[in-house]
Amino acid sequence: MAEIHVMEHPLIQHKISYIRREDVGTKEFREVIGEIAGLMCYEATRDLKLKDIKIKTPIAETWGKELTGKKLAVVPILRAGLGMVDGMLSLIPTAKVGHIGLYRDPETFKPVEYYCKLPADCEEREVFVVDPMLATGGSSTAAIHMLKEKGVKHIRFMCIIAAPEGVKKMQEEHPDVDLYIGALDERLNEHAYIVPGLGDAGDRIFGTK
Ligand code: URA
Repeated sequence: MAEIHVMEHPLIQHKISYIRREDVGTKEFREVIGEIAGLMCYEATRDLKLKDIKIKTPIAETWGKELTGKKLAVVPILRAGLGMVDGMLSLIPTAKVGHIGLYRDPETFKPVEYYCKLPADCEEREVFVVDPMLATGGSSTAAIHMLKEKGVKHIRFMCIIAAPEGVKKMQEEHPDVDLYIGALDERLNEHAYIVPGLGDAGDRIFGTK
């Protein structure tokens, strides 16, 4: 079964509480989403493999560590996932970036695919799928199905706020995908928004409301 990591780091908790506030404007919201994504990336990459390497400092030869194992990719689910990309890349700058476009049908709440462009060698990479809000789990599970159909085997999913309904759906459909969650909220409301949540993450990142 997949591991569920709810991030307890005080900076992550503080920043999430800050962006939940309805009076936080677009600029600040976007900046802080990026900061949270960077902090979550730091936590979610704790288990990356290292190898010993010999290095020469200006003073002496010594042994150091270097990342080894699979290369990384970040795949935001459009559009809100884009808000997390720069924060991730600030810590893993050599990661490649793919994009998956899904929108939620406002009546059925079901995900509809409209775009998918991935790094050519994506199936060999450790892929971090990112979307700030795991609500029904419809988009996230569909995006991960798309990646698996293209041969991607090593997938992690990262979101800033999750609803229990979305976590359950992810666990049922993708028990092999570890979840990295900033905050686990109470529930979904009748419009499939997370309660208490932070509203529409895409609108708040891009100022489209
Ligand atoms: N997507 C959002 O942006 N917010 C929610 O609360 C649910 C889905």
